[in-house]
Amino acid sequence: MVKTIFYLGATGFLSGDILPQLARDFPNDTVRALVRNPTPERVAKLQGLHPGLVVVEGDLNDAKVIVEEASKADIVVNSASSDHWPSVCATLEGLEKNSAGRPGNPPLYLHVSGCGIISNNTRGEKTENPEFWTDIGLDLDDCDPTNTHLESDKPAIAAGKRKNNSIRSIIVYPGQIYGVGNGVQKVTLWLRIFMDYAKRVGYGGTWGRGFNAQNTIHVKDLADAILMILRAASEGKAGEGADGLYFAVTPTLLSYGEWVKAMGDHLYNKGITKEPGAKPMPEEIVEPLGHYGWSLLGGSMFAKADRLTRMGWKSVESDRISLMESLPAMIDAALEDDKPYVHIS
Ligand SMILES: NC(=O)c1ccc[n+]([C@@H]2O[C@H](COP(=O)([O-])OP(=O)(O)OC[C@H]3O[C@@H](n4cnc5c(N)ncnc54)[C@H](OP(=O)(O)O)[C@@H]3O)[C@@H](O)[C@H]2O)c1
Repeated sequence: MVKTIFYLGATGFLSGDILPQLARDFPNDTVRALVRNPTPERVAKLQGLHPGLVVVEGDLNDAKVIVEEASKADIVVNSASSDHWPSVCATLEGLEKNSAGRPGNPPLYLHVSGCGIISNNTRGEKTENPEFWTDIGLDLDDCDPTNTHLESDKPAIAAGKRKNNSIRSIIVYPGQIYGVGNGVQKVTLWLRIFMDYAKRVGYGGTWGRGFNAQNTIHVKDLADAILMILRAASEGKAGEGADGLYFAVTPTLLSYGEWVKAMGDHLYNKGITKEPGAKPMPEEIVEPLGHYGWSLLGGSMFAKADRLTRMGWKSVESDRISLMESLPAMIDAALEDDKPYVHIS
C-alpha cells in the first residue's frame, strides 16, 4: 500500500542522511515535507535527496498546517526539534483525528529526541564510575523531571498507550551526532552552537569545566538505525509505545572539554578565535540558557543501544571514523556554511 509520510525537519543535518534512505527503502511512498523559506535552491536540494518529495510551506509554529498534514499522513517523522512542544502538540492532535478515521489501523509517529532526557546534571564535572541507562524497560518517569525533551516525549508515549484514537509512537534518542552530512544543513546542531559561542567569546568555551561526557554516533549510523526501525515498524515488528524508546548510541564516550579543545585549536589556527584550546565560559554567557543549557550541554549522558543491538544494528561508520577524526572536516563545513545558530524556543 502506498503511504504518505509527513516530515518535519527535512532541511536539517540528520534528514540529509534519512531522506535518501527513505527514497531507497520506501520508493512508492510520498514524502510531504514541512519547509520554511522554500527557496528554489532549498527545494532543488531536497528533491535531490528524495526525488518524490513534495514541499508543504510552513513553520513549526503553524499549528493549522501541521494538524492538517498529520491528520492525513500514515507516518509522521519529526527530526526538526526535540524541544518544540507546540509542533509536537499539533502533530499529536492531527494524528489523533487521523486515528479516529481509521479504527484498528492507527498512524505512526517517529520522533527524534535526544539523550538529554538522561542527563545527570553534573554541571561540567566528571562522573566517576558512570551507570549506563538501557532502553529496554526504560520508563521516562525515572528520568530527572527537569531534564530536556521530556515535555514532548511523555505525551507522545501517552498517545500510544491510549485506548481510543491511539497513535503508534516511536522515539529515538541519539547521542552526540557527528560527521559531515549530505543535506541542506551539512553540520550537526551542537557544533553550530559551540562555534557560535566560540566566535562570541574568542575561544572554545565549555559549560563548567567540560568534564561531562556522552556517547557519540555518526550521522550515517543514526540514519541506518532510524530506517531499520521504520522497516521493522512497517512489518509490525518494531517495539512501539512504552517499548518504542530507542537509544541510538555507540559505546564510545567523549567529554565536551576534549572536543571543544580540538575545536578551539582549529578555530585559533584559522585566525577565527583569539586563544587556542578550551576553557569554561563566564556566567554572563552561559546563564541566559539557564538550566536548559546546563542540563543539555553541561551534563553527562550514558546510554546503551540495547534495542537496536538486539535488532542487528551495527555502528559501521562510527567504527570507521571517530568524532575527533571527523571534527576538522565538520568545522570547515560549518565555516563554509556560516549560518548562525538560532535557539528554538
Ligand atoms: N545534532 C545532535 O547531535 C543531536 C543529538 C541528539 C538529538 N538531536 C535531535 O535530532 C534532531 C535533528 O537534529 P539536527 O542536528 O538534524 O538538527 P538541525 O540540523 O538543526 O535541523 C533542524 C531542522 O528543523 C527545521 N526547523 C527548525 N525550526 C523550524 C521552524 N521554526 N519551522 C520550520 N522548520 C524548522 C530546520 O529548518 P531550517 O533549515 O529552515 O532551519 C531543519 O530542517 C533534532 O530534534 C535534535 O534536537 C540532535
